[in-house]
Amino acid sequence: MPSAAVSYLQKGGMRHQATDGPHFQPNGFFSDILPRESGFDNMTEPSGQIDHVLNESRSFPPPAEFTEKAVISSMEQYEEIYRRAVEDRDGFWGEEARQHLHWFEPFQEVCQWEAPNAKWFVGGKTNASYNCLDRHIEAGRGDKVAILWEGEPGETRSITYQELRTEVSKCAAALQDLGVGVGDVVSIYMPMTPELAITMLACARIGAVHSVIFAGFSAESIADRNQDAGAKLMVTADGLYRRGKVLALKETVDEALAKSPTVEKCLVLKRVGQDNVPMQEGRDVWWHDCVDSQSGDLPAVPLDSEASLFILYTSGSTGKPKGIRHTTAGYNLWAKRTFEWVFDHRDDDVYWCTADCGWITGHSYIVYGPLTAGATCLMYEGAPNFPAENRFWELVEKYKVTILYTAPTAIRAFIKWGDEHVDKHDLSSLRLLGSVGEGINPEAWMWYHRKIGQERCPIVDTWWQTETGGIMMSPLPGITATKPGSCTRPLPGIVPAIVNESGKSVDANQGGMLCIAQPWPGMLRGIWGDEERFVDQYWSKVPGMYLTGDNARQDEDDYYWIMGRIDDVINVSGHRLSTIEVESALVSHELVCEAAVVGRPDDLKGQAISAFVTVTGEASEELRKELKMHVRSQIGALAQPDDIRFTASLPKTRSGKIMRRLLRDIASGQEVVGDTSTLEDYSVLAKLRTDD
Ligand code: PRX
Repeated sequence: MPSAAVSYLQKGGMRHQATDGPHFQPNGFFSDILPRESGFDNMTEPSGQIDHVLNESRSFPPPAEFTEKAVISSMEQYEEIYRRAVEDRDGFWGEEARQHLHWFEPFQEVCQWEAPNAKWFVGGKTNASYNCLDRHIEAGRGDKVAILWEGEPGETRSITYQELRTEVSKCAAALQDLGVGVGDVVSIYMPMTPELAITMLACARIGAVHSVIFAGFSAESIADRNQDAGAKLMVTADGLYRRGKVLALKETVDEALAKSPTVEKCLVLKRVGQDNVPMQEGRDVWWHDCVDSQSGDLPAVPLDSEASLFILYTSGSTGKPKGIRHTTAGYNLWAKRTFEWVFDHRDDDVYWCTADCGWITGHSYIVYGPLTAGATCLMYEGAPNFPAENRFWELVEKYKVTILYTAPTAIRAFIKWGDEHVDKHDLSSLRLLGSVGEGINPEAWMWYHRKIGQERCPIVDTWWQTETGGIMMSPLPGITATKPGSCTRPLPGIVPAIVNESGKSVDANQGGMLCIAQPWPGMLRGIWGDEERFVDQYWSKVPGMYLTGDNARQDEDDYYWIMGRIDDVINVSGHRLSTIEVESALVSHELVCEAAVVGRPDDLKGQAISAFVTVTGEASEELRKELKMHVRSQIGALAQPDDIRFTASLPKTRSGKIMRRLLRDIASGQEVVGDTSTLEDYSVLAKLRTDD
């Protein structure tokens, strides 16, 4: 019986182990300069841990009506599942896999594990496209709507599971005609149309490995990814709609293909009807010429459980992007079960995940999770503020969306745009809300709860990563009392550990590095073509455990709080502060929309705190002072920003995450170094530099 599981249930995660924390020398000098009213006067020993500074004590139990019908409806039920998943890993996951996936051939072994290499459902043969489509049709549910789609200009489509299988089969047959076979890599660079999901599933159907590249990346980024993956074929479109404009895609792809010698063919969907789309003879083929004429009954190919399903590139802070590799059976099962547990999926739900399929959220919670679970998913092509800032709420009302899954960056934008856009619409269909991608500031959480959830809908703040394949920690909406800003507790089978620099577990409320101590079915299997980087990045710092790269703390109720990336920690006078807590204090001021906080070198304190904030209304010297005092009163003097810069926007990744790394360089007056290819809008960076 793995001891970690028992200790989790008895004492909360792995922090039961004796703390052998760092033994720093007391540093009288720094304690002298700390103002006493800071509340830090009894913390004169600089700590190797990350100080927890914010005291968020609000708690929201699930409404009784929700609990009554919930998939997991009691804490005992959760604890029982959790206990089994960890104590009897093979028994539990073996049963789950047999029940929830289709097997062409049964597996002989549930899990082979020797860190860092895991194999799940060894020897079995399945197919993710079969699990997403054929299974439902065989069970007589082929007429259920799988995808409700709305284009940015307003066209709509409704596609049943039966119809989706036909489309996927046609596309799969076309890919085969174009020379794609088992193990070949297909790069996908497409707008958020059903054909994007269809192409992903078509690859899965024939054993090709898809590599979706978000359709906002440059030609250079596409070429890098094609080259790294050795892609054989590309699928793209003539263009896409974004905020009312047509953006050409094919030209960008052509530029990329000039530097992608491995790509032999390019399949092009006509989405916007661009004139004069350049088509290269012998290489480029139209979707309507090549896919539409296929018969639509191509059977799914039985594939090894560990066959690669997809690669998804994710940026590292330095070096080129990493191709995270996920495989078939374990990932598929993890996406399905986490979807069902966290989103409490019921047959009549209309579920909407607002992410793009170019990110892992789209892979796991638009395509593989919901479709394997037989859900009806809304898919929207365009921007949230086109033609106006009420577009999302109009969609919720029109399609009677019951579950909405979005990102903190979007929530902060909605707050900034004003409540009037929400107030125009009837949101009474909603029953559950989700958040993903970044920490959600408690005040943004409260707005989501009050304004969108109308104090009726539980919020699931889901923590996970591209690497984890699916959600790792989240409230279960029927049973978990939520606390704004906390992702609460781990899902069944997940054993988190918070450790210090020497790999020892830390005490409650002491921050440390978040690791995962046991394998789980959806875990990454490697970095495409770079075993060394895989070991180095995730498995070398804390032996035997997966290093997430995030900091976290666990509170007295065993709830987890993600405190930001390890690299983002700020060290003020020996106290390691988390960015999210200082940012949340800033955002709790009524005039602040967004905040990013970074450390910059300071002779006296080690690091000083620089804050970048966007505000509603006038930025003034007075407001700057007021914000400093606000943070001081919310947290204490130690966390008071040394400087605050007002800015119209913050640099973000294309998936909406604040890029603190770049702000760090700007705050310390350095040239911005490292990979900036994931930056969404370069002009933000230029503007921040000139504002210096
Ligand atoms: O730092 C954490 C943050 O996003 C990282 C993973 O990013 P990515 O691979 O792009 O996947 C995003 C979609 C899962 C994490 O290491 N993150 C994600 N969700 C949360 C979060 N931070 C705090 N709270 C979350 N709910």
